Amino acid sequence: MKIYFIILFFLIFISCNKDSNIYLIKSPNGNIQLEFILDNGSPYYKIDKNNIKIIEKSKLGIILKDEKKLDHNFKILNVQSNVYNSVWEPLYGEEKEIKNSYNELEIILNQDESNLKIIFRVFDDGVGFRYEIENQEDIKNYDIIDEKTEFKLSKKDTAWWIPAFSYRRYEFLYAKTPVDNISKEIYSQLVEDIRYDTLGIDAAHTPFTIKKENGIYLSIHEANLTDYSSMTLASRGNGLLEAELYPWSDGTKVKAEEYIISPWRTIQISDNSSDLLNSNLILNLNEDPDNSIDYSWVKPGKYMGIWWEMIGTNESTWWPSINHGANTKKVLEYMDFASDNGFDGLLVEGWNKGWHPEWCCSGEGKKFSFTETQPDFDIEEIYNYGKNKNIFLVGHHETGGQIENYESQLEVAFEFYNKNGIKNIKTGYVNDVSKNIKRINKKGEIVKEWHHGQYMVRHYRKVIELAAKYKLNIITHEPIKDTGIRRKYPNYISREGAKGQEFNGFGSNGVNHAAILPFTRLLSGPMDYTPGVFQLNNFRYTQPGSNIIDERAIVPSTIAKELALYVVYYSPMQMAADLPKHYTKHPEAFKFIKNVPVNWEKKKIINGEIGEYLTIARKDIKSGDWFIGSITNEKERNFSISLEFLNDKKKYSASIYSDAKKTNWKTNQMEYKIHSEEVNNKSILPIYLAPGGGSAIHLKKID
Ligand code: NOJ
Repeated sequence: MKIYFIILFFLIFISCNKDSNIYLIKSPNGNIQLEFILDNGSPYYKIDKNNIKIIEKSKLGIILKDEKKLDHNFKILNVQSNVYNSVWEPLYGEEKEIKNSYNELEIILNQDESNLKIIFRVFDDGVGFRYEIENQEDIKNYDIIDEKTEFKLSKKDTAWWIPAFSYRRYEFLYAKTPVDNISKEIYSQLVEDIRYDTLGIDAAHTPFTIKKENGIYLSIHEANLTDYSSMTLASRGNGLLEAELYPWSDGTKVKAEEYIISPWRTIQISDNSSDLLNSNLILNLNEDPDNSIDYSWVKPGKYMGIWWEMIGTNESTWWPSINHGANTKKVLEYMDFASDNGFDGLLVEGWNKGWHPEWCCSGEGKKFSFTETQPDFDIEEIYNYGKNKNIFLVGHHETGGQIENYESQLEVAFEFYNKNGIKNIKTGYVNDVSKNIKRINKKGEIVKEWHHGQYMVRHYRKVIELAAKYKLNIITHEPIKDTGIRRKYPNYISREGAKGQEFNGFGSNGVNHAAILPFTRLLSGPMDYTPGVFQLNNFRYTQPGSNIIDERAIVPSTIAKELALYVVYYSPMQMAADLPKHYTKHPEAFKFIKNVPVNWEKKKIINGEIGEYLTIARKDIKSGDWFIGSITNEKERNFSISLEFLNDKKKYSASIYSDAKKTNWKTNQMEYKIHSEEVNNKSILPIYLAPGGGSAIHLKKID
């Protein structure tokens, strides 16, 4: 093997012998090194960081429907490299400015008359690559039947994962296993029995978080999922993972008319789990908004809801009944409370026709109307009342997974919301059966699609594009995973897409889940987790109208932790999930929710370990105040936090909301302490986290 020449300073070397060509490219800081290898005509890649193996030699390729196998028998047609360096400003976010710096390697491979382009971008925090098949004479059918991308790890590497091809989309607790153990069988032994759910293959969703045996952390995911199907990861043994795409009902993985641009396959790389949270690689692999579209109307905010009454406390119903939650009188009362406390919106669920006790969860329910209100819900009166108080409804479109019904009403539904001052819509896709999204195909037959296939990717994109036309923000529950398209569509303001707070209402997420989410699901983007439940026990009635409390129901958290989650879990739309009557019991703690911002200038990860604890400090973009949130799993912790990140000479008044010595997520959840002290950038703050607890701090500048 011989090094021939250097194309760009330190960027690419070409080495070759008779059977193999190797192109090497490094990250801007030189730490990460990617090799593209053409070995006997087959394409591979390999990644190292500071000479430590990250991804061993792994296959690349795409198989098209007409049996064109674009994974072997290639020659190299062209190689090009680029250096890219910029800083961009998101409309809102976790940081005011985002640095985007990478070295790029573009390879065009040729097989007979067909070409396949593979583009690699190597950043200081990881690697992204994608396939492009341009429109060309020799290719008659661009449909993909398989993607051959591999990720070769070591069998000793450990992963945190949730199952793909299973009934509840992304709403699962995480399993932690060796990377080879991704199967429904093993998941069933460790977490939840899904053995009966036999459709589809054994695979895991992304983001897929890995701790390598050498201590390095990785997250495998994808960026810019546009008109393609979601990628999952299947284990092939001995540390090898292979990309598996969700198929259409006819077995095709991706349908394409004239060309293919795949999403970026991404590997974020860091020396510890908390540094994964600093990576902007997913956003950097997305595009800026279309210049012709004005998004200045998109405003982050906070909202309350007539929601936990149905989900958590079980006092109200979505459907018409004497306990119907969405009634005008109650809505106006909630609006008073929300407006008095500075919220921007009020979510009301169950306002429209179609709700009935059996609405959930098989996609078979009555069809929802998105423009007809229930008789006790006067939307005009509510709009006029709210307008005077500067509070607007957050609309709700539960589709029940009935996509054709929703799409047929989309435009009129958005017009209806425009008329009624609505700026944000929470959408929902509850259909808890595998491969059960029904659509009528070209032959007029009803066929069933997966929630994560290209059919749904197209649907979510259609909704967001049309919503932009009507100046509406979307918060999706049961979404397609976030792959950073909020950069191009800032109105895709938040999503759920994991087991959020609501599962503590239905049952329990357990005490440790909250400390896993930031290192897994939240790596993909903001989450509408809906924190802020204050009444953490004795909150649930046995049924609407009953005054019997279900004493077994608890939210496995503490009040201080519920506050901390507003800082730890980023979302530009944050909900205060609990009921006004529960907040009025704790006016001092509620102040933190009122004060905490949703749009930030920068963040600082203070400490963290996946599944254990996490402390984040964020600077408010408006006031310059800092906020700190710290959460722990079931273990109690004492931290000393250095405030050196306050790198100005100012003094701050720190309001510290913390667990008390006897607070405990199981037995004594609602005891907390609040105290204030003056601090500066030399201060070291001791903070205490009770078992399952947390701490929230507001550092207010003193002029
Ligand atoms: C599931 C959503 O996650 C939840 O927030 C919503 O209340 C119900 N679906 C009804 O739409």
